[in-house]
Amino acid sequence: MSKEQDILATKAFFEGWKFYQTIIRLNYMFHAEIIEHETALLSSLSRERLSVLELGCGDSFAISQVAKSISIDRYRGIDITSLALKYAQKNLERVIPNVELVEGDMFQEGTFHSEISDAGVLGYTAHHLETKAKISLFSRVRKQLRADGILIVYDLITDEGESPEDFLERSIQHFETSWDAFDRDQLASIRDHVSTKDHPESWEGWKSIAEESGYSRSALRFRDPQHIFGIMAFWSRP
Ligand SMILES: C[S@@+](CC[C@H](N)C(=O)[O-])C[C@H]1O[C@@H](n2cnc3c(N)ncnc32)[C@H](O)[C@@H]1O
Repeated sequence: MSKEQDILATKAFFEGWKFYQTIIRLNYMFHAEIIEHETALLSSLSRERLSVLELGCGDSFAISQVAKSISIDRYRGIDITSLALKYAQKNLERVIPNVELVEGDMFQEGTFHSEISDAGVLGYTAHHLETKAKISLFSRVRKQLRADGILIVYDLITDEGESPEDFLERSIQHFETSWDAFDRDQLASIRDHVSTKDHPESWEGWKSIAEESGYSRSALRFRDPQHIFGIMAFWSRP
């Protein structure tokens, strides 16, 4: 599949945004924990006027909840899925004063801009990329961050030594047995998306991607009980 076809397939999958809202509402992918850790990590920056850049922001639900308890002054969200961005616009109304939502591929030059942010967020989006492309994305985000800024990544994390194939099969089996809000067709579409699009990394893998991209400190803040998902933080400064 070419890169353009790949983008179109991802876009088509997420255009049915309702299913992802169900995932968030039922905490299937631990958005409650994401909100808790994102709040703590952004608070730790102790900035009066906090600015955040989010790639693959979807409907910006997590950051909209974070912004209810800490003050975020500026937010730029980038996503290829127009319907998700419509929800993002609504979620962010009255919680962040300066919001810019960009419909576009996060790899295209134009979707980034010269403004430097305090924090970057990359949630459940980087696993679509092969390791080399993850390094190039992490590096690009680092250049958009203040020297003492932070990159928050929540994503798929394999156990050490587990192959991506075994991890994906184990994950899909968990979704099929536990995500009971979905019918057979929806689960089949999740299986198809996960098995063809996802490139998970171990915690050591994510750490070395960050190191190669110029980050010098890493922390694994959370892992779910099934060892599928995790919340990580990376800093440029030691
Ligand atoms: C699983 S959702 C995650 C949404 C949100 N970050 C969250 O954590 O709830 C993945 C998002 O990444 C977006 N996405 C995938 N590839 C992208 C790309 N190349 N550029 C911009 N957005 C992309 C999808 O449209 C989708 O909204």
